[in-house]
Amino acid sequence: MLELKNLDSGYDFLQVLWEVSFTVEQGEFVALIGPNGAGKSTTLRTIAGLIKPKGGDILFNGESIKAKAPHLISRMGISYVSEALNLFTDMSVKENLLLGAYAVKEKETQLKTLDYVFELFPRLQERKDQLAGTMSGGERKMLAIARGMMSNPTLMLVDEPSLGLQPNLTYAVFEALLKLRKQGVTILLVEQNVNATLDITDRAYILEQGKIVMSGPSHEMKANDHVRNAYLGI
Ligand SMILES: Nc1ncnc2c1ncn2[C@@H]1O[C@H](COP(=O)(O)OP(=O)(O)O)[C@@H](O)[C@H]1O
Ligand SMILES: [Mg+2]
Repeated sequence: MLELKNLDSGYDFLQVLWEVSFTVEQGEFVALIGPNGAGKSTTLRTIAGLIKPKGGDILFNGESIKAKAPHLISRMGISYVSEALNLFTDMSVKENLLLGAYAVKEKETQLKTLDYVFELFPRLQERKDQLAGTMSGGERKMLAIARGMMSNPTLMLVDEPSLGLQPNLTYAVFEALLKLRKQGVTILLVEQNVNATLDITDRAYILEQGKIVMSGPSHEMKANDHVRNAYLGI
């Protein structure tokens, strides 16, 4: 479904990613793991079209998307949930969700998707009229993920949803991702919470200093010496 081919990317004069190649198959739940500054967020931003690659290619269902604008990439079915969340704090939960469906033209389809998202996230339905800015940290993450669902994506790119959350809320956010996966959504997840991430994902890629250094089924990565030393503190 998604294929990165020798992707070089970065900012102005700073190259961050060096010939990064990986694939995500339809229906898979794939993790991208690595230390701070490795280039994980840069990878997601480049796929979402927010940064233009310096080299290589990005294929989505066989079509190159590397030169496409973010809104076109979104319309093709890729949804990006950034770590910054970018919620409109003065707007209600429901208004924030509907903004996630801006690319969907028919009002009726928007409302149908809203019902579906409320079914997946009953807590957000209970709070649909609450201002996003008054939600707790965990609820905001949930809202950002739910908003990402409003464009009916087939692939979701999710950047560090557990960042700043207590363990029980992290668990709730991961449960939400598993629910989406059950709905058939393909997910590429960036996470620092490596232990839990390797428990819920199918496969993982390890990114260090802008290069993929290792990959494999998540349960195998959990038993790998390098992963255990560097990421699991064992
Ligand atoms: N907007 C930016 N402008 C310039 N450099 C950036 C920008 N964002 C990130 N970087 C740099 O790119 C490198 C990779 O960052 P990032 O992709 O955010 O890493 P990660 O998400 O793995 O922690 C870091 O050295 C960071 O300082
Ligand atoms: Mg990051």
